[in-house]
Amino acid sequence: MILVTGSSGFIGSNFIKFLIEKNKSFHGIDLKPSKYLKFKNFSKIDLASPKKVNNFFKKNKPSSVVHLAAISGVNICHQNQDIAFKNNILATYNILKASKKYNCQKVLIASSFAVEKFSSNPNFYASTKKICEDMIKVYAKSYGLNVAAVRFSNVYGPYSIHKSSSIHQMIKCLIKKKTFEIHGTGKQVRDFIYVDEIINKLNNLIRKKLSKLTYNFDTKKKISINSIINIINSIYKKKKLKTIHVKAPAGYDVSISKEIKKNSSRNLILNLIKTINWYNSEII
Ligand SMILES: NC(=O)c1ccc[n+]([C@@H]2O[C@H](COP(=O)([O-])OP(=O)(O)OC[C@H]3O[C@@H](n4cnc5c(N)ncnc54)[C@H](O)[C@@H]3O)[C@@H](O)[C@H]2O)c1
Repeated sequence: MILVTGSSGFIGSNFIKFLIEKNKSFHGIDLKPSKYLKFKNFSKIDLASPKKVNNFFKKNKPSSVVHLAAISGVNICHQNQDIAFKNNILATYNILKASKKYNCQKVLIASSFAVEKFSSNPNFYASTKKICEDMIKVYAKSYGLNVAAVRFSNVYGPYSIHKSSSIHQMIKCLIKKKTFEIHGTGKQVRDFIYVDEIINKLNNLIRKKLSKLTYNFDTKKKISINSIINIINSIYKKKKLKTIHVKAPAGYDVSISKEIKKNSSRNLILNLIKTINWYNSEII
């Protein structure tokens, strides 16, 4: 059985949908049931509780774990440091400890490219993920656990109404005729990856032998916030996204590097259309 933590969240919901479609044995854990999907094998557990995590592992003995639960995002962690410490660091420690104790065969822990940029752009979210990556190293090298960190770039796709990440926020603003706040100039570039690619990569990794401590899940093509807005406007045609420039929140990376125009490729456009269509079917 694959244990999926954060199963009610954005990436968790997409992963659970995939596992249901593939008829795989899984169990979801989250603080609350999913508002997107209905499935039976779910436990409402706070992973920051060592006792509850231990009891779950003792009873269910998962063969592998995909740990996605966290409070995710630079701004939200900056504003809720205590919760970020508990839900990101403590919860991950409890997962590592129980996985080792109950001989779990494979553990994948969601991390972020924010770790890579930590020294030039330190923020609390990145620090929680960095600490988790350090614990992963210890559990892999010193305690023999088959564990790796999976670093995601900026993920977009369906089941994301609750998210405040840029593409999701742009689409919500467009549909609800609200103004999208561009942090800084909008010239800062990001690597945007469609959620199905993350799910496929997770599924491949679950079946493969782990050979390193960190896996990067990105497209290696960066595009600016301004270019994404232009693409979304060109898809929508009838409506244009209203925008305003605001000061970037603390810890937000506004550094400008080279944009790879190739990213306005067919794939990106098709995946943005899929995401917009999903939002249109959900938000009336
Ligand atoms: N979405 C992205 O672009 C992105 C980028 C890089 C890394 N990540 C990482 O990927 C993972 C999944 O991200 P997401 O976008 O699906 O986030 P999300 O916020 O949509 O989902 C996270 C889920 O974890 C649950 N959770 C939090 N603390 C918990 C606890 N103590 N016990 C049980 N459940 C708890 C939340 O209730 C939520 O449903 C996170 O670790 C995130 O940091 C996401």
